[in-house]
Amino acid sequence: MPEIERLLVVDDEAPILHALQRTFEAAGYEVIACADPAEALDRLREKPFQVLSADYMMPGMTGAEFLAQAKALQPETIRILLTAAHDFSAAVDAVNNGEIFRILAKPWNRVELLGTVRQAFDTYALREKNRQLTAIVQSQNAELAALNKGLERLVDERTTNLLDGMVAVLDYRDTETQWHSRRVSRFTRRIAEQMGIRDAYELRTIEMGALLHDIGKIGVRDAVLLKPGPLDQEEWHEMREHPRLGWALLQRIEFLRDASVIVLQHQERYDGRGYPSGLKGDQIVLGARLFAVADTYDAITSDRPYRKAQPHEAAVIEMQRVAGTQLDPQGVSAFCAIEEQEWMRIRSEVEKISLVEQEWGWTPPKRIFEQIREAATKQKQPISQPPDGADAKVG
Ligand SMILES: [Fe+2]
Repeated sequence: MPEIERLLVVDDEAPILHALQRTFEAAGYEVIACADPAEALDRLREKPFQVLSADYMMPGMTGAEFLAQAKALQPETIRILLTAAHDFSAAVDAVNNGEIFRILAKPWNRVELLGTVRQAFDTYALREKNRQLTAIVQSQNAELAALNKGLERLVDERTTNLLDGMVAVLDYRDTETQWHSRRVSRFTRRIAEQMGIRDAYELRTIEMGALLHDIGKIGVRDAVLLKPGPLDQEEWHEMREHPRLGWALLQRIEFLRDASVIVLQHQERYDGRGYPSGLKGDQIVLGARLFAVADTYDAITSDRPYRKAQPHEAAVIEMQRVAGTQLDPQGVSAFCAIEEQEWMRIRSEVEKISLVEQEWGWTPPKRIFEQIREAATKQKQPISQPPDGADAKVG
């Protein structure tokens, strides 16, 4: 339905006002005529007008003042100034400040007047259409942005789930300690919280880095990873590549870029005798230092194919012994400040989640289970120490 074309006419001289009103009404416009500019402003407060025609010389306020106030009330209205020729120089102000669409001279030429008003309505209609389209584009952009964000989150979530599943398979292949990586990631996060880290992104990065620490073992051959006896030089070299391999793997996943540094450094030692780079102390990112604390605790307190789990106290004694050499002493202190019950609670939470998943039907592929079982029966001793004499454990 076409909108009513409504025009506000302001002129303090009654005969001129009536003449204008008749002319515009005859042309089919709805006309509101006001002799007083203050009254005209009230009309503008009541309802929208597409076009406004105003005299320049009026009592109470100048045309410039009136038009500035009219613009503030209805910025989109197209404004026309109708003025006597001798007022033209004064009207310059109105042109400069009020954004006048056209100035017309009195006495007017009827054809010119109606032509100008027609143009004013058409301009209003075009601008209005433009505003509507812009609003549609903006709202669609906002919708699209929200949709993108949701998709990004979904991709991150799915990627995390996929990696989590892969990690569970790798854990089983390597140590037969299923959910080792999940436990260690929760332990590492808890130590980080104890150290005063509150930033959600940083905590998440640390947790993900710890979860994925051994993802690079995907590239280590079974013959090396599951070898029952000591590794030779070449095999050991292959094993030591797994942090770098894991790091490289995660470079393609934008939201894991920061976590990948923890993966790269997870075998470094506080005293600089780890690998792959022999970094020392603060050169190693905090997440990797705290991971080492959590990993040591989990290794001592979990059953492994070649030895039984040891109690919490035994782990604490061993971790305090290697604080400052293998492990970051501050990380060990933070660990020791937390009660044993809390570590047990985290452990049982991880196991509960894992059991629920198994009820849903998720288990690592059978072939890998069988391989592991077979390898585990042969594997009676831990993998050999690094040839450079460092006593870092292979984790
Ligand atoms: Fe490792």
